[in-house]
Amino acid sequence: MSKKKSCKKVYITTPIYYVNDVAHIGHAYTTIIADVLARYNRLIGNDTFFLTGTDEHGQKIAQSAEQRGKTPKEYSDEISGKFKTLWDDFDISYDKFIRTTDEEHKIGVQKAFQKMFDKGDIYKGNYEGNYCVGCETFFTDNQLIDEEGCPDCGRPTTIVKEESYFFRLKNYEEKLLKFYEDNPDFILPKAKAKEIVNFVSNGLNDLSISRTSFDWGVKLPDSMDDDKHVMYVWLDALMNYITALGYGTDDANMHYWPAKTHLVGKDILRFHAIFWPAFLMSLELPLPQHIAAHGWWTRDGEKMSKSKGNVVDPREVTDAYGLDAFRYFMLREVPFGQDGDFSQRALMDRINSDLGNDLGNLLNRISGMSGKYFDFKVTSKDVEKYHKKELDEVHLILENIEKLICDMQIHKYLEELWKVLTIANKAIGDYEPWNMMKNNRQEEAMALVALIVNIMAKVSILLDSIMPSKIKKIALSLGIDINNASYQNLIQNKGLIDDTVITKIDALFPRIEEPLLVTADVQKVEEVVQKPRKEIEKQEQLEEDNLITIDKFFETSLKIGTIVEAEKVPKSKKLLKLQVDLNEGRNRQILAGIKEFYKAEDLVGTQACVVANLKPAKLMGMISEGMLLAAKDENGLNLIRPEKPKKIGTKIS
Ligand code: ME8
Ligand code: MG
Repeated sequence: MSKKKSCKKVYITTPIYYVNDVAHIGHAYTTIIADVLARYNRLIGNDTFFLTGTDEHGQKIAQSAEQRGKTPKEYSDEISGKFKTLWDDFDISYDKFIRTTDEEHKIGVQKAFQKMFDKGDIYKGNYEGNYCVGCETFFTDNQLIDEEGCPDCGRPTTIVKEESYFFRLKNYEEKLLKFYEDNPDFILPKAKAKEIVNFVSNGLNDLSISRTSFDWGVKLPDSMDDDKHVMYVWLDALMNYITALGYGTDDANMHYWPAKTHLVGKDILRFHAIFWPAFLMSLELPLPQHIAAHGWWTRDGEKMSKSKGNVVDPREVTDAYGLDAFRYFMLREVPFGQDGDFSQRALMDRINSDLGNDLGNLLNRISGMSGKYFDFKVTSKDVEKYHKKELDEVHLILENIEKLICDMQIHKYLEELWKVLTIANKAIGDYEPWNMMKNNRQEEAMALVALIVNIMAKVSILLDSIMPSKIKKIALSLGIDINNASYQNLIQNKGLIDDTVITKIDALFPRIEEPLLVTADVQKVEEVVQKPRKEIEKQEQLEEDNLITIDKFFETSLKIGTIVEAEKVPKSKKLLKLQVDLNEGRNRQILAGIKEFYKAEDLVGTQACVVANLKPAKLMGMISEGMLLAAKDENGLNLIRPEKPKKIGTKIS
């Protein structure tokens, strides 16, 4: 029996998003990860508080509102409402949605300002320097690109010359460095900590924390008697993490402080890893356990961003593919901390293979076998007798998996769960329950089916935070509950489920053959990946239906080529990158969707038939200048090659 853990308090936050524009999949990504952490912590029995919200003050919002002919408040109400509705529609399990225009928040920020002032950490001076409104950030001259450009977003900065209050950030340099040293997992992924330590080691300037040139912000506390100033939006924004718990007002939820994880994108790591701890030290509050910074979703390698206008609408994606599939994809596709290019094709692959084949199909097999052999009734009584080995393998994986969530290695967590599914899928093939039934070995067949049901139950419990609605359906089909009690029983105590009756349900993840979204993204993917294949299909159809003339045939230039280099395309399941010699004085680069069927090294030196006059296309950002002929049936795919080696460049006719 494992020890019953005492219930811990866990506080998880997302950034509060600017209301200059509506959400894109980058915001959905952060919020979904935070939701997964919150759901997971609730499941394992932790008292969890999950905060999200909107950041509504500052020059950037004031300008966005003005451009639309609205007051900042009207505009903030509108966009903040859209964020909230989106998270509600996405079933995000937040406990509070904070807005920086909330009265309690403003009071809390003023109290914090007062406390820092009373402590001597704030003084009045003059600011003269560069400001990027888009990033709401001050920069020194030597940080700028070409004397003007913002080092973060590249847009021109403006020169600000104002009276300003300053926070004595410089005084916290040593304390911050000591804190990073004592808490090596404060910043996750750990690799990112170095960047922050370097930044602080290079010396910090005191931070300007008020502005006078506009008034859309939190006023200074009355006691300062200085109503020219509003607070710098980042001071205001960061304080949300404590004002949401009642700091400075009713303190009602301050027992959740310090936060376990502030989830952020790498664009705002510096604010969270430097300014925020310094403010908290000044306020004499404990520091958060982790700042977890993920990478960016990109389009063609560029950060997806509202101001660049290259965004993907999360609603469009989830309407087409389903919310749970989208959640799974986002978490599985890109290792936490790294950037990832959003592609519909990759999403489809994850749905069809991981979700449809590995997970959904296993559930079908459960209802198929249990229905056919045992009238859907399953008992676990002989699982240990026949399948101790498989159970041990499963438990070994599951024992080590919780740590992966704590370390923000969610993609690995999912990888491990899929290994567990493989154990189940493999056991069916190895033990052949259909033969057991033929040979009157019902007890063994039942034990096997029950093993699979138990594995599915365990995996479902651990997938519940990732795909809550699909897992509800699986739980219903297996006749199990998913809650802290079943987590303790099946995961912590390695128990088995009670006797149960399986219910057959519709396919969870029906196969998707064609991209479902017609956006720029799809067009891009379709043109480059689908079109050559589609054209071949079209041609095949033509050939079947109509006869063609020989001239028509010779419009296609087919040649013998020798593959001189071959390597895997990283992040692609299908593609190999080949250099093919067609005796043209230079090699052709060809991207071929044959990775599943050929090892790169086995191809080097072999010959293939190449379509030599195909219009070059770009696949995953790389050029492909031709196509190899291949044939595929249920036994796999084979390249079509000359029976005996031919001179390189020989025309095929
Ligand atoms: O920075 N890929 O708000 P913001 C992944 N108000 N995540 C992305 C992304 C992308 N391409 N683009 C945005 C602010 N995000 C401040 C925060 S917190 C006290 C104040 C996500 O609307 C990511 O989490 O610009 C990033 O850090 C955040 O949105 C920035 O949102
Ligand atoms: Mg931003």
